[in-house]
Amino acid sequence: MIYKAYFSPTGGTRKCLDILCPEGKEIDLTRRDYYEDYHLTSSDILYVALPSFGGRCPALAIERLKKIKGVNTKAVIMAIYGNRAFEDTLIELYDNLNSQGFIITAALSCIAEHSMIREIAKGRPDEEDKKKLSSFKPIIMKSLEKGEKIKNIPGLRPYKSISKFLTPKADENCIRCGKCYISCPSGAIDEMMPNLTDEEKCIGCARCIAICPQKARKYEDEAFSAVKERIKKLATERKEAELFL
Ligand SMILES: Cc1cc2nc3c(=O)[nH]c(=O)nc-3n(C[C@H](O)[C@H](O)[C@H](O)COP(=O)(O)O)c2cc1C
Ligand code: SF4
Ligand code: SF4
Repeated sequence: MIYKAYFSPTGGTRKCLDILCPEGKEIDLTRRDYYEDYHLTSSDILYVALPSFGGRCPALAIERLKKIKGVNTKAVIMAIYGNRAFEDTLIELYDNLNSQGFIITAALSCIAEHSMIREIAKGRPDEEDKKKLSSFKPIIMKSLEKGEKIKNIPGLRPYKSISKFLTPKADENCIRCGKCYISCPSGAIDEMMPNLTDEEKCIGCARCIAICPQKARKYEDEAFSAVKERIKKLATERKEAELFL
């Protein structure tokens, strides 16, 4: 059986994974009620797609991914990033799955709209990305047939360190509908007072901003402007999806 595990707070990661692998049993790692243990066999195949947060895997995604175990099970991994860089995301994902019984036979990077700064990589993955990812498919199939570990994995150990990401806040337009509370991957939003966010728990994933029907959730202006200016300079040139074997 084919399994597709993904952590996609604002949908870009999932779009890229769906292009590469449209069918399979889905494991949504953003769900807070995700308690099932999965024991995959050597005849199963696992696809995993994670977004790059600060050039690393989101720690919450890695924690939930630990529930999926393999026995020499073949896996294809993807790092999705917002046209700046994915740095150590693939190597971190590789190391974790490798220690959980998986043989990683292919690794990919792909670009999606920047979930924090939506004007960066707007509309991606686009037609060009679809063509590029589709062109990788036959090569990935061959790598799965061969079943050999990849030799070329980008990134460095020890992985780069990351600082705390910005926490969005709700403004006076909040009508306390609770949608952000329900869908927050980390449980950082208060059920009774959804305009309150626990900064310690928040992973800065931007889902609450994307789903709020009132557009009430935002990053604080000053801190966000500084981050935005810095990242925009690093993400101007269009980057393309890559395959590593
Ligand atoms: C907290 C945070 C950190 C991010 N860090 C990076 C980064 O280091 N490099 C990059 O190119 N994009 C970065 N991005 C953009 C995301 O990797 C990208 O938009 C991804 O597609 C988001 O996945 P999603 O749409 O499934 O939520 C970051 C986004 C967020 C919210
Ligand atoms: S989704 Fe928006 S309006 Fe609804 S509770 Fe959250 S911040 Fe308030
Ligand atoms: S409160 Fe933080 S962790 Fe929760 S959805 Fe918003 S950005 Fe993501």
